[in-house]
Formats: sequence, C-alpha cells, structure tokens
Amino acid sequence: MQKKSLFSKMMATYTLIIIISFVIVAAVLSFWFQGYNFRQRETQLSSVSNIVANGAVQYFHGDLSVGNISKILEHVSEYSSSDILLFDNYGYVCAVSKKEHKDFIGYQLLTKDLENLRLGNSIEKKEFQEKIFDIPVYSYIVPIFNRGMFQGAILFNTAMYEIKEPLKEVYQIIWISAVLAMVLSSIVIYYFSQKIIVRPLSKINNVSDKIAKGDVGKRVDINSNDEIGELAKAFNSMADSLEQVENNRRTFISNVSHELRSPITSIKGFIGGIIDGIIPKEKENYYLSIAYEEIQRLTRLINDLLDLSAIEAGKFTLNIQKYDINEIIRLSVIKFETKIKSKKLNVNVWLDDKSVYVLVDRDKIIQVITNLIDNAVKYVEFGGNIEIRTKVRGQKVFVSIYNDGQCIPEEDAKYLWERFYKSDKSRTSKVSTGLGLAIVRSIIVQHGEEIWFKNKQSKGVEFIFTLKRNIK
Ligand SMILES: Nc1ncnc2c1ncn2[C@@H]1O[C@H](COP(=O)(O)OP(=O)(O)OP(=O)(O)O)[C@@H](O)[C@H]1O
Ligand SMILES: [Mg+2]
Repeated sequence: MQKKSLFSKMMATYTLIIIISFVIVAAVLSFWFQGYNFRQRETQLSSVSNIVANGAVQYFHGDLSVGNISKILEHVSEYSSSDILLFDNYGYVCAVSKKEHKDFIGYQLLTKDLENLRLGNSIEKKEFQEKIFDIPVYSYIVPIFNRGMFQGAILFNTAMYEIKEPLKEVYQIIWISAVLAMVLSSIVIYYFSQKIIVRPLSKINNVSDKIAKGDVGKRVDINSNDEIGELAKAFNSMADSLEQVENNRRTFISNVSHELRSPITSIKGFIGGIIDGIIPKEKENYYLSIAYEEIQRLTRLINDLLDLSAIEAGKFTLNIQKYDINEIIRLSVIKFETKIKSKKLNVNVWLDDKSVYVLVDRDKIIQVITNLIDNAVKYVEFGGNIEIRTKVRGQKVFVSIYNDGQCIPEEDAKYLWERFYKSDKSRTSKVSTGLGLAIVRSIIVQHGEEIWFKNKQSKGVEFIFTLKRNIK
C-alpha cells in the first residue's frame, strides 16, 4: 500500500475546511447580495416610474401622442435597461418601449394583478416568465394614479441575467480568493508540517531503524518544547535502557561463556592427559578428583544461573510461611563448621529473642543467609571475626552479617549486586563466580524487602537485610 504522508492528510483536512468555509461565505454573501440587488433595482425603477407615470397621465388625457409616449418609454427603457409596457386601467397594453413588442398593443395582458394595483400596491415578481418573454425576467409593476383615480400601470421587465451579472463577479472574487487562500495555506502548512512534524518524525524513524539494526548508541537530537520534543525525549530514554539491556546482555553472555569455558578446558586437559598417557597411572586418580571438583563447580554455576534466571523471570512462586529466623541462622552457620575451623575464625551470633518469627520462603532465605555467610567466611582474614545478628524493629526483622577484612571500595558498590561481579579479582578464589549477591538480592526483592551493605570503620563489611515479621 502506498504510504499516505502526514502532509497530504493535513492538506486534505485543511482544504476541506477551507472549501466548506468558502462555500458558506459564498452562500451567505450571494444571498445577501441578491437581495440587495433586487432592492436596488426596485428603488431605481420606482423613481424612474414617476417620469413614465407623468407622461402616461398626459397621454391618457390626450395631451401626448402615442409616438411621444413611446419615445419616453424608449428612453427610460434604455436608461434603466429594462423593457417597459404601459397598460390602461383595464389592463390593455397601450404603449411599448420595444418595437418588437408593438404586436401586444391592444391586448389585455394584465388581469389577475389589476385588483392589487387598484389598491395602490406595486407588484414585484422574481424569475417571472412572462408569456411575452422567452427568458427569465424580473417584473416590476407600478400603478398610475391621478387625483386618486387609478389610471393604469407600468410594467418593467428586466432580464434576470442583467441583475445577476454583478453576482457572478462576486462569485469569481470568492473563488479566486479561495484558491489563493488554499495555495497560501498549503505553502504555510507544508513549511510548518515539514519543520515541526515531518522532519523530526523522520529523524526519529531513521534513528529507530539504526537502533533496530544494532547501532544502539544512536540518539535523536530534537530539543523542541512540544509533544514531538517529549516524544524524542521518551524515545531517547527508551534507547538508553535498550542500550543498557544490550550491554548487560553482552557482558552476561561473555561472562557466562568465560565461566563455562575455564572448567571445561581444565577437565578436557586432565582427561585428555589420562587418555594420551601423559599423566602417569598413579596420578590418574588425583587428576580425576580435580576434574570431578571442576564438574561440581560447573554444576553449581549452572544451577545458580538457572536459579537466577528463574527468579528474575518471576517463575518462582514463593512459598511464604511462618518460620523462626534464629533457627534458620543456626542451621546455616553449622554448615560452615569445617571452613570456620580451618580458618580459625571467631563467630559470634547475637540473636534478638529466643525465636523471631518471620514470613518467608524457607529454602530461599536459607540460600540468602548461606550465600552471605559464605562471602563472610571467604573474605574474612585468617583468624578474623564474624558477627551475625537479628534485631526486631516494629514490623521488620533486621538480619546483619558482619566480617572483619578489607572494605568494599566505593566505586564497586554500584556493581556489587550484578551478575558475575567480583570486586577484587586477585583475591577471589577460583571457586567464585560472582553470582552469589545477585541471587541474594533477587530473592530479597522478590520478598518485597531490602538489602544493603556498610563498610565499618574498624575495617570490615556488614550486609543487612530486612524481613517481614510475623506478629501474633
Ligand atoms: N563480605 C564481603 N567482604 C568483602 N567483599 C565482599 C564480601 N561479600 C562480597 N564481596 C565482594 O563482592 C563480590 C561479589 O560477591 P558475590 O557473592 O556476588 O560473588 P562471589 O562471592 O565472588 O562468587 P559466588 O558467591 O558466586 O561464589 C565478591 O567477589 C567480593 O569481591
Ligand atoms: Mg559469594
């Protein structure tokens, strides 16, 4: 289908509006003008009729010959550009202004109107087709009185086109100005629609095409203070988030492939070495166990990724129930016993009450606490302290996990919660993937709660999150 441009649509609308308004103006003007024209003619004829009436009275009295009265009629007819017929008091034609009408003399052509004329009324007939004229005429009949006696009548017939001629000019003027207005307004509309709408829209169109083709860095440069400007702003902010998403997707994919490749490469190396016989028989078991560990890491990584994407896609429905958070913390700490002992850590657990009931998905909150304790144990110095607390504050329970050690640099704070983010790459072991905190945050957010961290002056990091307390 051919594209209908905005300009042509606007043009069509404006043309229609202009045509309608001009038709209305033309109709009103011509109606008014026509009325005005008839009135003009009527005043003209009634003043002229006095001259004829004077002559006619003299003629009826025998003071004026037929030839003379006919001359008068001829002159007046020329002057008023109408044909004149003179009638006596019975409606018989007695004189005419035009030689061709001489045959009518002696015929009674006025009958119906005589009554009215006798009463002294003039008669006006528009578009009146007299038997004698073969074109539409405007007839004006004036009675003649002398000393109160009805003497006869004068009939003026003016061809309709004579009256309507000036109207044609008015129509012409109206139509010419309509066409002019149309041409002018189309130029103005064209200019403004191009400047205000069409060009900015095609700019946005072009940029969106480029973005669709992968050039996500492109932006629209429109600063107008109107709806188009707002559209451009909205478009740009949409492009911003699109770029962000695209960048996240790229780093995510490169991170995932990197994280998957390294264990697979080492597993491939070990197994290849065993098959090729490069690894001595007695060491096979040792390398196989390393390969096994790598496979476990891979499994954990894949599980973490699946968890994370499931949580983020909202596929998990939380199984929220009432649980004792202190109990959950105690159970989670026990799992780290061997690690705590081997690092000679000092772990203090400060629990608010004996049991603090919260509304949570148990498995998910265990995952949160386990991840946070895992980090604390991983990043605390050898022989350092770990403190775990619960505090009840109104409707909320605050859970905090603190460990001695290096603070998290300010510039890392923003990215800490992102997938695969590891703040100090040299310090993090091979076992790290950088998914822990991303999972933690997703779970807390899904619970409708908050999580944040604080760097402690006394060197150390504290992670705090809130939970909904179960009162009753
Ligand atoms: N308690 C902490 N003390 C110091 N730095 C921390 C602490 N917890 C997290 N971090 C920093 O934040 C980064 C992200 O943590 P996260 O738990 O997401 O990943 P990870 O522990 O490196 O890997 P994973 O948890 O997936 O095994 C860590 O690499 C570390 O640099
Ligand atoms: Mg971690």
